[in-house]
Amino acid sequence: MGGWTIGVLGGSGLYAIDALDGAEWITVDSPWGAPSDQLLTGTIGAVRFVFLPRHGRGHVIPPTALNFRANIDVLKRAGCTDLLALSAVGSLREHLAPGGFVVVDQFIDRTVARPNSFFGTGMVAHVSMADPVCPRLSVLAAEAGRRAGATVYEGGTYVAIEGPQFSTSAESHLYRQWNCDVIGMTAMPEARLAREAELPYALVGMLTDYDCWREGDAHVDVPSVLKVMHANADKARGLIVALAGLLPAERTASPIDTVLDTALITAPDRRD
Ligand code: ADE
Repeated sequence: MGGWTIGVLGGSGLYAIDALDGAEWITVDSPWGAPSDQLLTGTIGAVRFVFLPRHGRGHVIPPTALNFRANIDVLKRAGCTDLLALSAVGSLREHLAPGGFVVVDQFIDRTVARPNSFFGTGMVAHVSMADPVCPRLSVLAAEAGRRAGATVYEGGTYVAIEGPQFSTSAESHLYRQWNCDVIGMTAMPEARLAREAELPYALVGMLTDYDCWREGDAHVDVPSVLKVMHANADKARGLIVALAGLLPAERTASPIDTVLDTALITAPDRRD
């Protein structure tokens, strides 16, 4: 038992939260290299928050170049107990309309050029990714989104693409056939690394576009994504404030807090 410290990974527009008390930018070093930016820490009510602008302030780092390991590592070192990720996503389903929020519960990972583990030769570990998100935080994030006035869809499969280009139409149709619901470039390997760091992770996908599968529709482009993101920034900030009010005073342990107990396979006397 103890208090909550929620790490928030998201766009830089997210951090101008009036309700954030004692706001302070801090630098946290990591042996994994440089994270995307400094961390903004502060409290809302009884909850401590640690914000990391995922692409750096001013959006200067493309998805492929993000140092996901350093990002997760500094959030862990800053004392985060749980992680809430917010990301722009394209919709692969007619009913998932831009402007709404999807609380993702599964992933298909098509990224190909990103270090995706804290482990390797000398220290081998295999964590379960069968249930890749934290159900407790996901339910609370969904309710917080509704309280902030968003249309919230609970559950959905996120296909992570390498980018930086958007998909071809053939790929977009293929992902629909794979039963993917939303598409993005940032949540993988973030979710894998959160699990390896024993940090319960929830992802709110902010629907910005219909990618390029819809007949007669304009294909996704950056201005259309930014327009919807800006229109929904208030709701994203409202979700965070509402989440602070919804979290129970005490944080009880999550099974995810101890996943490495059953994941390390290298013999103890051979571990680096
Ligand atoms: N982020 C927002 N919309 C996207 C799309 N259609 N494809 C990939 N990433 C996105």
